[in-house]
Amino acid sequence: MSENISVLGLGLMGSALAESLLAAGHRVTVWNRSPAKAQPLVAKGATAAATPAEAVGPSDLVIVCVLDYPAVREVLDDVSLAGRVVANLTTGRPAEARETASWAAERGADYLDGGIMAVPYMIAKPGALILYSGSQAAYDRHEQALAVMAEPRYVGTDPGLAPLLDLAMLTGMYGQIAGFLEAAALVSSAKYPLTEFTSTLLVPWLNAMAAGKPAMAAAMESGDHRTEVSNLEINRVGVDNLIRTFREQGVRPDLLIPMKTILDQRVARGLGHEGLSGLVEEL
Ligand SMILES: NC(=O)c1ccc[n+]([C@@H]2O[C@H](COP(=O)([O-])OP(=O)(O)OC[C@H]3O[C@@H](n4cnc5c(N)ncnc54)[C@H](OP(=O)(O)O)[C@@H]3O)[C@@H](O)[C@H]2O)c1
Repeated sequence: MSENISVLGLGLMGSALAESLLAAGHRVTVWNRSPAKAQPLVAKGATAAATPAEAVGPSDLVIVCVLDYPAVREVLDDVSLAGRVVANLTTGRPAEARETASWAAERGADYLDGGIMAVPYMIAKPGALILYSGSQAAYDRHEQALAVMAEPRYVGTDPGLAPLLDLAMLTGMYGQIAGFLEAAALVSSAKYPLTEFTSTLLVPWLNAMAAGKPAMAAAMESGDHRTEVSNLEINRVGVDNLIRTFREQGVRPDLLIPMKTILDQRVARGLGHEGLSGLVEEL
């Protein structure tokens, strides 16, 4: 069913979201601080509003996607939101999401916070995911429209949960990038072709290693860190070896040093027989 939906914030992501809703046949009203960014969407059938209040006017579902949470408040501060669902897809911290949910409730709005796990060109394509938390009733009411932009996953009533899981996924990504950067520097120090190393060796290895993560997560949940794979003492020696190799090759091991710190702490507690999952308790 076609809905009236407003999209406030037409940067790279907001424009992609609005475009997907238009393509699915929804009646989309758009607003952006710099009005020119609305024009390509108007050409595809959107209605441009002159102010945020005018944009919110016709819609039950109000999607906001701007730089940060202070900008969300700035945009919606003087706007009547009574009876609307505000779906805030701006990236932010869990505490900001909870504050913004209370702020929206004071204005009579139902609130959903969203964490977009995609880049703009992935929107409305397989593989794009948006995590939602906050009002279950609001999510249920608009699930079909939300599903147009990306696979929607409702994770719970705490508005801070979607941003927390979003940041946790980004944390996993940055950890992987840190490992890739160090590996790339080491491989380059030997003048070995980096693209070949990456596609034929590293990526298959990382994919194979990823398969072990759920078992590690189960050990973290249970607190049983016994291992038949490799213990911390072996890993500590292994990471020492890496760091010495980096130095011998003239490469900075800076991104690996924090891992060594945590490993050393855990082993110093007499827990060198445990598996890597035990390190989570140090964190
Ligand atoms: N791009 C991605 O791959 C991606 C992926 C996941 C999540 N996100 C999240 O999506 C949000 C938007 O990202 P984006 O890539 O669309 O960024 P962007 O292209 O830089 O657009 C930023 C948007 O925020 C608006 N804005 C900034 N400050 C404002 C203020 N004080 N008042 C009103 N509007 C303001 C800008 O308006 P003007 O046009 O007037 O400057 C623009 O519409 C961010 O929270 C980002 O983390 C992005």
